[in-house]
Amino acid sequence: MSVTLLTGADGHVGTVLARWLLEHSDSELLLYVRAADDDERAAKREKLGALASDPRCRVTYGDLRAAEPFSDIARNEVTDIVHCAAVTSFAVDRETARAINIDGTDKLITFAASCPGLRRFGLVSSLYAVGLRNGVVAETAFDDSATFANHYEWSKWNAEALLYQRQDMPWQIYRVATILGEDNSGVVVQQNVIHNTLRLFYYGLLSVMPGDPDTRVYMVSTEFVASAIGRLFLDAEDQGIFHISDAGDDAMTLGTMIGSVFDSFLADSRFARQRILKPLFCDQESFDTLVESTSQFGGAVSQALDSVAPFAPQLYSDKDVQTNRSTEALGGLRTPNSKELLSAVSKYLVETRWGLKMPERSCDR
Ligand SMILES: NC(=O)c1ccc[n+]([C@@H]2O[C@H](COP(=O)([O-])OP(=O)(O)OC[C@H]3O[C@@H](n4cnc5c(N)ncnc54)[C@H](OP(=O)(O)O)[C@@H]3O)[C@@H](O)[C@H]2O)c1
Repeated sequence: MSVTLLTGADGHVGTVLARWLLEHSDSELLLYVRAADDDERAAKREKLGALASDPRCRVTYGDLRAAEPFSDIARNEVTDIVHCAAVTSFAVDRETARAINIDGTDKLITFAASCPGLRRFGLVSSLYAVGLRNGVVAETAFDDSATFANHYEWSKWNAEALLYQRQDMPWQIYRVATILGEDNSGVVVQQNVIHNTLRLFYYGLLSVMPGDPDTRVYMVSTEFVASAIGRLFLDAEDQGIFHISDAGDDAMTLGTMIGSVFDSFLADSRFARQRILKPLFCDQESFDTLVESTSQFGGAVSQALDSVAPFAPQLYSDKDVQTNRSTEALGGLRTPNSKELLSAVSKYLVETRWGLKMPERSCDR
């Protein structure tokens, strides 16, 4: 019997991946979630819902910041590991990013190396772990010569780099693009910098947009991410880096994306009545000045701009993302059409006013 340790099992990706693995493999799952006391444990079990009581799942608790976060786990029984846990905020400070994303990964690699029956170690990374690189981005290891838009990206690259030289370990790295929605229904469970930016547009609070209209934007659905990672984890080669993303040739540019979102918004009578114009693209310096000046007054606009700011440098950094290896390994599994996904998500966000109104369609998380 195989036993798969899944960290971050109650996170956005972790939950969907756990369900995928239950459906497509016969492995037992050890669901690793962060909890410090009984109250947090109870809350986490509730969040895990049906997963917590599934006969093939066991819940295990810990914190990656602890000295020995995996001391409660029997190393003899673990055959496979997927590392999903991370601090995922773009605004994270450097020390927190280091403690959780780098040192936490290092501790898990040490634990993995001591598991006698280990068959696979999968690290869930980010497409933006490659930093502010322009041009071709291949499914290969990168050196430390790039700068990063924020400490999150920096920490994800450092976590990857811990594996690059590990010839002794059957690792895979999954560089995931930005998750826009659950699937083609457009339902959004977890909002991020893109959803925040769209909200500013919708309410007419962002008349200028950071970025270059020709920069490509890489967006995927949670459904695709879980099934792509799941299939690679079960079947693909060891020591491979895989992009869980659309390819550079298929990706939307920022300019097309904004045009498409506005077309979707115009179908909403409230938005159409306001006669809001498309935002104008501005250079990085102008955007930084805007962020700085609004921060003096605080409020919703400032908060929203603050959420966009740590990612803004990437909107000037055009990447031609290669997906040859993952496309070949995934056979018939294709990324969702990003234009259709964006249109469905824009509609859902408007209908639910970014989750403030009860969604008319629901998902079970
Ligand atoms: N969502 C995206 O668009 C996206 C894109 C690219 C890559 N990724 C990568 O995908 C992975 C999963 O992301 P996600 O979107 O599912 O994020 P998420 O919903 O924020 O989940 C992160 C998980 O990590 C756990 N965690 C955080 N700090 C921890 C600690 N100190 N000890 C133990 N567990 C800890 C969280 O638990 P708590 O909730 O208790 O903190 C949560 O279960 C991450 O590695 C992320 O970098 C995500």
